[in-house]
Amino acid sequence: MNILITGGAGFIGSHVVRRFVRKYPQYRIVNLDALTYAGNPGNLRDVELLPNYTFVKGDICDFECVCSVMQQYEIEGIIHLAAESHVDRSIKDPFTFARTNVLGTLSLLEAARRYWDGRWQGRLFYHISTDEVYGSLPLDAAACTAPYGSSSFSESTPYAPHSPYSASKASSDHFVRAYHDTYGMPTLVTNCSNNYGPYQFPEKLIPLCINNICQGRPLPIYGRGDNVRDWLHVEDHARAIDTIFHRGVPGETYNIGADNEWKNIDIVRLLIRTTDRLLGRPAGTSEALITYVADRAGHDLRYAIDAGKLKRELGWAPRYCFEEGIEMTVRWYLENQAWLEEVTTGAYMNYYDAMYGQR
Ligand code: NAD
Ligand code: TYD
Repeated sequence: MNILITGGAGFIGSHVVRRFVRKYPQYRIVNLDALTYAGNPGNLRDVELLPNYTFVKGDICDFECVCSVMQQYEIEGIIHLAAESHVDRSIKDPFTFARTNVLGTLSLLEAARRYWDGRWQGRLFYHISTDEVYGSLPLDAAACTAPYGSSSFSESTPYAPHSPYSASKASSDHFVRAYHDTYGMPTLVTNCSNNYGPYQFPEKLIPLCINNICQGRPLPIYGRGDNVRDWLHVEDHARAIDTIFHRGVPGETYNIGADNEWKNIDIVRLLIRTTDRLLGRPAGTSEALITYVADRAGHDLRYAIDAGKLKRELGWAPRYCFEEGIEMTVRWYLENQAWLEEVTTGAYMNYYDAMYGQR
């Protein structure tokens, strides 16, 4: 099977590419990635020379490019992860999010429709999305421990996105379903909770805090730190994607999550405890770095995902316990300071030039 994975040089995409390239030597995996600031082909150093892996630098919004990749590699399945993914950036630059997430997804859908030309047997367009499309849940004032409210997002929760990021992802989800309903294209959509783990770009809460604790820099907490996110280890997400790609029912949507709600301030304190301990510092050393800053505009209060359908119907379950997953993640960042340095200085941009020629 020839599979196109978009956004494979990013955080989640690199875990999905690694898993598929290693586990399925009989598949040809083509990674199409534009290498934006978030794309780092160095994330795939350990698999890039394997014979069933091909990297193509290209923009999903470039329709001609996507059509030619479909034809050249005789693509049968698509796992679409390429996106602009950071909410704060979407608030500053919504156009880029609409371009990549909405128009880029449409460009891929249309290229697949034309290339497959109604021959749907053995074809699949699998779109990776977020729980943020469902909007925000209330916090139950009486709940001192997780779950922080009685409600959670199910597959039938109506869409109510608030940020330009989630609005663009919601729009792309609707386009994918429209291609299923209008043309009969076999499609899948999954909506996943917040991911953490190795190779996450240090603009997101967890890697940003690990890096800042190491450097003794402030840990910016938006608002009061009471906002709740539901966290999943990226390898549990990649395993869910593998399961759903092979056994999901076309036309369906599956939520992915680990029933793991945390208030932001509690995560930051866990990161402080873990990082200080692993660095051999006295407990509490980095507590003083906590800095409350202005809240994010339109900041969603709480996300909580009900992944019951995926567990019941396809037998998936998360494997990582959060505290262990966090400890492994902190260790990874401490042991991969060179990666962090490359990413924070922008030096990683040279990797592609050295490996594949000029960007
Ligand atoms: P990321 O920002 O780390 O990586 C995105 C990748 O897409 C990068 O490699 C980038 O170069 C590439 N890309 C961006 N624009 C492109 C374009 N126009 N053409 C081709 N490639 C392009 O993102 P991530 O955190 O790995 O998220 C991957 C997907 O998973 C996204 O669709 C995101 O919405 C979704 N998702 C993320 C999370 C999370 O917690 N990170 C949770 C649920 C769903
Ligand atoms: P983030 O990692 O950006 O993911 P998302 O916005 O997609 O949930 O943020 C996770 C939570 O942490 C979110 O509630 C915003 C908050 N946050 C901070 O308090 N400070 C920060 O510096 C960042 C990046 C996020």
